[in-house]
Amino acid sequence: MKTIHVNTSRPYDVHIGAGLLKKIEELLPESVLKKIDKGAKTVLITDENVNEIYSSDVEESLEKIGFDVLKIVVPAGEEAKSGQWYLKILSCMAENHVSRNDCIFALGGGVVGDLSGFVAATFLRGIDFVQMPTTLLSAVDSSVGGKTAINLPEGKNLAGAFYQPKAVIMDVNTLDTLSAEIFADGCAEIIKYGVIWDSELFELIKENNLTKNRGNIDLMCGVISRCVEIKQKVVSLDELDKGIRNILNFGHTIGHSIEKNSEFEVSHGSSVAIGMTIISKAAEKKGLCPAGTGKLVENLISDYGLPTETDYSRKQIMDGLLSDKKIEGTTINLILPEKIGKCNICNMKINEIEELIFGD
Ligand code: GLY
Repeated sequence: MKTIHVNTSRPYDVHIGAGLLKKIEELLPESVLKKIDKGAKTVLITDENVNEIYSSDVEESLEKIGFDVLKIVVPAGEEAKSGQWYLKILSCMAENHVSRNDCIFALGGGVVGDLSGFVAATFLRGIDFVQMPTTLLSAVDSSVGGKTAINLPEGKNLAGAFYQPKAVIMDVNTLDTLSAEIFADGCAEIIKYGVIWDSELFELIKENNLTKNRGNIDLMCGVISRCVEIKQKVVSLDELDKGIRNILNFGHTIGHSIEKNSEFEVSHGSSVAIGMTIISKAAEKKGLCPAGTGKLVENLISDYGLPTETDYSRKQIMDGLLSDKKIEGTTINLILPEKIGKCNICNMKINEIEELIFGD
């Protein structure tokens, strides 16, 4: 097992290893364990798919430690990250007299983690929560760093809070049951870390295609740990996303537009994969990164079975981009590769971005 300490305003550990769902007691911080003496309950929030496979192990572990468990199951997929489900969960917790001494456990992928985190940040002005990511995407990205949110009809993640968990427990065995598509979604975020920060990681995942090596626990633990280490460095420097943390948005500006245009039919990972390809090729065309960078990114993304192109029109992409929450007045911080393993944050006007992506 690997443990990575995240040095944010509320510091915590991320544990990555096999079989961790059955070892929760050993991994929870003292501040959570001592709640048991005061009769704390846990609110286990999960989705209907994860519930069938993993929640009994977690419930058993929590009950064995001495927690009462209130389980709340939400639909699988992006629809749960809505105002309606957010309010339903708050009401259910209020009806069940959940108190500030209690703790939420978010068992699932990014949707469950983001939604549960926002519930934790706002219920009674904030109660503790623990992230238990069960997808590759949530393991390497969304469970770490304290971004919590729900979607509004107007756009993705438009209501949210920065709220750090008390711990992150990532059991790599949960990756076994992911569909090929959901697994590849997480690979898109891993490719992102390679492009923006770590050329060795880029080479490693090029030489060892993770989609063909997902049963290799050592490789998977190593790659996930490397991504979490990068993320912890970035969020420790800029917890509130006012500077360097923006680099984690590489490929996301166009990606979010594609997601929105497709009404979330195109997955986050696929959308980001397309966004990373388009931006890398555009940066190369402008001479902002070495010749061949765009092709390197595109080839790796294709090797992982992820899309590199979209049929949405220039107008649809630009309209979608305008509802991005990262927009500041008429500019957005666009992340451009300088070379594989290094990137730059470029504050650009919307019309400059349009010109960069689509030409005059
Ligand atoms: N997912 C990007 C971030 O946490 O900043």
